[in-house]
Amino acid sequence: MSEKRILLIVGGGIAAYKALELVRLLRKAGIAVRPILTAAGAQFVTPLSLSALCEDKVYSELFSLTDEAEMGHIELSRSADLVVVAPATADLMAKAANGLASDLASTTLLATDKPVLMAPAMNVRMWRHTATARNVERLKADGVAFVGPDEGAMACGEFGPGRMAEPEAIFQAIQRTLGGARPLAGRRAIVTAGPTAEPIDPVRVITNRSSGKQGYAIAAALAELGAEVTLVSGPVALPAPAGVRRVDVETAREMLAACEAALPADIAVCVAAVADWRPETVGASKIKKQAGGEPKPIALVENPDILAALSKAGRRPRLVVGFAAETDDVEANAKAKLAKKGCDWIVANDVSVEGTMGGDANAVAIVTAKGVERWERAPKADVARRLARKIAESLKT
Ligand code: CTP
Repeated sequence: MSEKRILLIVGGGIAAYKALELVRLLRKAGIAVRPILTAAGAQFVTPLSLSALCEDKVYSELFSLTDEAEMGHIELSRSADLVVVAPATADLMAKAANGLASDLASTTLLATDKPVLMAPAMNVRMWRHTATARNVERLKADGVAFVGPDEGAMACGEFGPGRMAEPEAIFQAIQRTLGGARPLAGRRAIVTAGPTAEPIDPVRVITNRSSGKQGYAIAAALAELGAEVTLVSGPVALPAPAGVRRVDVETAREMLAACEAALPADIAVCVAAVADWRPETVGASKIKKQAGGEPKPIALVENPDILAALSKAGRRPRLVVGFAAETDDVEANAKAKLAKKGCDWIVANDVSVEGTMGGDANAVAIVTAKGVERWERAPKADVARRLARKIAESLKT
């Protein structure tokens, strides 16, 4: 394996001294570390100690003529396999969550195309402040991974969560990310996401509310674990996740055809909010209002059920997962849906909880033949990663 490289951003906090121990662990494991030290970080550790331990020069300034001549900040942001922020201060997290680029560290976080791992460290009240909680949620939704913070006595004399994770724990989180645990390598997955749009005439459609966020996050999480993912997507305003093959469709029938074309597969996860019905006939020209007349009724016919079709397909994926957006009796309905559709799991989602539809967080229950597993409310990206890990686990045997 070629030498792995970390870009380590050291923020300003008393925990910065632990970053030195982290560097030592990384170097011992043969991992190269290139350090960025913020101005605040330099109040806690010296550039000299960081440079000596990293065996590399320390980058601190955005507009340094000498540094830019050797390596521009854009190149710097991409020169590693992983960007680690330790300690990640409230200020650095706020900048990253809002896309600010006011110094070298924040510019690097905005310019990088590499995975980012943050180890937060701050006073307990700062950690618990709604602004920080909002930033953490935002960053998680953007795909940033976190390790810690731990709970305990703090340098400021208070007690609670906010202590930076121990260097050993950060080191292990780095190893996990770099080691690229890819338990789904060689597996093929189909994910449906977004709504479908069923034309009434050339300008009107019947559709469902769906942002596509959860489906896209699941496609990304399965790809992260090594699966070869086909994302069959209705019309949404989201970019395709990295490493995922996206097939754009409009109608339920197109979605079904695209899923069938993607078979054989080991995994199917149907997250799309498929329109249950479509107009029986589609007007070739725009339906005009009749002056003073009644609106014409639209005759509807049922759409194919993609989840049920994949569950019964001749080349049925080994694991078929459906979603259930319910407002009442969530688990009972999900159990009934499991039987009706013939799938293996239903991820039941209580959409009566405000902020679920179109929002960034989700509380779900996983309903299988074995029982119900309830997961606490978490960002959609976290729910996706946890689901992807559970899928990988179930395919092991
Ligand atoms: N689904 C699908 N094709 C359809 C309808 C639904 O693939 N034509 C999938 C969804 O992607 C989801 C699951 O079926 O994974 C549950 O869909 P939902 O609309 O909640 O269930 P329905 O079968 O429509 O049942 P009900 O309307 O009674 O809730």
